[in-house]
Amino acid sequence: MAEQIKKIGVLTSGGDAPGMNAAVRAVVRACIFYDIDVFGIYKGYDGLIRDTVEQLYVRSVSNILSRGGTVLLSARSDEFRTPEGRKKAFNTFRKHGLDALVVIGGDGSFTGASIFSEEFDVPVIGIPGTIDNDLAGTDFTIGFDTACNTAREAIDKIRDTASSHDRLFFVEVMGRDAGFIALNAAIGGGAVAMIVPEHNWSLEGLIKRLRKGAANQKASNVVIVAEGCHLGNAYAIAEQVKDKLDYFDIRVSVLGHLQRGGSPTTLDRVLASRMGVAAVEGLINGESKVMVGVMNNQVIYTPIHEAIKTVKKLDDEEFRIAKILSI
Ligand code: F6P
Repeated sequence: MAEQIKKIGVLTSGGDAPGMNAAVRAVVRACIFYDIDVFGIYKGYDGLIRDTVEQLYVRSVSNILSRGGTVLLSARSDEFRTPEGRKKAFNTFRKHGLDALVVIGGDGSFTGASIFSEEFDVPVIGIPGTIDNDLAGTDFTIGFDTACNTAREAIDKIRDTASSHDRLFFVEVMGRDAGFIALNAAIGGGAVAMIVPEHNWSLEGLIKRLRKGAANQKASNVVIVAEGCHLGNAYAIAEQVKDKLDYFDIRVSVLGHLQRGGSPTTLDRVLASRMGVAAVEGLINGESKVMVGVMNNQVIYTPIHEAIKTVKKLDDEEFRIAKILSI
């Protein structure tokens, strides 16, 4: 056991995700359980640079488990990308006598954490908090399940109006360069097709699928488009399809940031709670420059650089199922 961890700083960084608060709560309470002082750093790395840091206590994190967003606030810090910015951040880190840092965020936040840890020899542990689910070393990231539920609920509602008017809808979901939300929403929402960055599906392929659906008298047609897919955004794809399929009345719906908000699902709360405790216990046991993950229901620690650089693949089996069920 590394006895020297007496003070831990925790921050949330990058795009917020439902369940980040549950992770903050778990980090704070696990610290207190193990007699470690814990400090909240507000607004991500910018908070370290500008010294917006305060000690947190058991009751500081009361009633946040069910809330979306992050009480620690979040930001994407340009200044932290510079050596000068990181030096300022380290000065704040030292001023508060911190021994280690817990970073809750996505790949950009972990890149920063990794550089900071290398430059100043500071123990750092990452907790994957992003709706995109695009980090290797964990089956799911915090916020992904809630975002999928939000997207699927929206799709259910869109389907009601799509079938009433016999319309074709293109629904764009988030995910940056990854299609995890799209695949999940397509299966859960019963989409006729989905277009994701990971698969090079052609416009012709999509049109063939839609024609087949029409010939089979499909009751409603919803196509899920992952943002960042190769054929363009949902509006661009709808335009191209409109030129080729004149018997469809087409509408587009971009779900956008509503996928980032809302009360986290039970699954996200439990995941975040497990990861928060595991981050603190990892630091106590001498882990550093690792990301906490849960794979096959086991907590594991993956080197941060591996979690960032390994491209997480979409599940081929889920992809196959989506295809079979969309006939
Ligand atoms: O990484 C989370 C995410 O919501 C992505 O899915 C999306 O591409 C991006 O952040 C949007 O970022 P912003 O909130 O800065 O517009």
